Amino acid sequence: MLERAGVDVRVGTEREDEGVAPSVMLEGIQWCDVLVSLLTEPIDRALLAANPKLRGVAQYAVGFNNIDVAGATALGLPVSNTPDVLTDSTADLTWALLLAAARRIPEAQEYMKAGRYKLWGPNLLLGADVSPGGNGRRKILGIIGYGRIGAAVAKRAVGFDMDIIAYDLHARAAIDSSGIARWAELEDLLAQSDFVSLHPLLTKETHHLINERALKLMKPTAILVNVSRGPVIDEAALVRALNERWIAGAALDVFEHEPAMAEGLANCENAVIVPHIASASVGTRDKMATMAAENALAHLRGERAPNAVNAEVYSSVAYRERAARALGAT
Ligand code: DGY
Repeated sequence: MLERAGVDVRVGTEREDEGVAPSVMLEGIQWCDVLVSLLTEPIDRALLAANPKLRGVAQYAVGFNNIDVAGATALGLPVSNTPDVLTDSTADLTWALLLAAARRIPEAQEYMKAGRYKLWGPNLLLGADVSPGGNGRRKILGIIGYGRIGAAVAKRAVGFDMDIIAYDLHARAAIDSSGIARWAELEDLLAQSDFVSLHPLLTKETHHLINERALKLMKPTAILVNVSRGPVIDEAALVRALNERWIAGAALDVFEHEPAMAEGLANCENAVIVPHIASASVGTRDKMATMAAENALAHLRGERAPNAVNAEVYSSVAYRERAARALGAT
């Protein structure tokens, strides 16, 4: 799309498994008019300030915690993201992880592939019920962070006959009016839930929201799912919780020091771990790319980006000054 629009597109690295070195980012930002960014590169104010003619940042992700948005706004730079399109694929993966952890799918697959299945047995790979199941008790799903994705996860839980409780400091009204979830204080949610699913933005308030204390409040039979951002969990504490069975299991798409994992996590048999693939479906990634390109073109043309996360920037003096500088440059 960008090349068809006549844009000179240069790529920081062709290697997806490597990321772009800070020195390459710094050199590259000097000449570019718009930066299309991934969540893997930190984009701080100093980097953005290195090119006074930069017009905007188009992030290829809904999350943008890698970008200093306040710094960008102060510099007069619009930042955009790719919201909504990945809500369903992320909610689907949440459920895939929840079910995989509850029903021990990865362990069961390894068992088969290792040729260990010799005879069906009543105690083979017993897991946890998700639906009311044998004892008829409706399971409780606790959702932390009730934005678009949290709400989509709740919608799917209805089909499993679950009771849904939710906590979100900024979305109490959305929970109260959802008709399917009811508000719970964080500690009550942790103590009551059979499954806890994390969907908050990563902020100072949510960093290590799930720490040793929170994990100890959870039921020993509970399963924790995280598809939000790794640092929401204190991962070292989680490894202790899994090894010492404070909780029954965890299913993780994201990691505190991604792509690294906390020591011992890979050896926890009660952890299901996948490499940040919540939005990784062909249709979703195609649409994310289209949205990022549309946003980038808008930044480039000095138009309002369809998905600016700091729309207030457009009325700032810093933005007008930057636009004037860019026009002077062409
Ligand atoms: C996002 O968009 O923030 C996801 O983490 C990756 O698609």
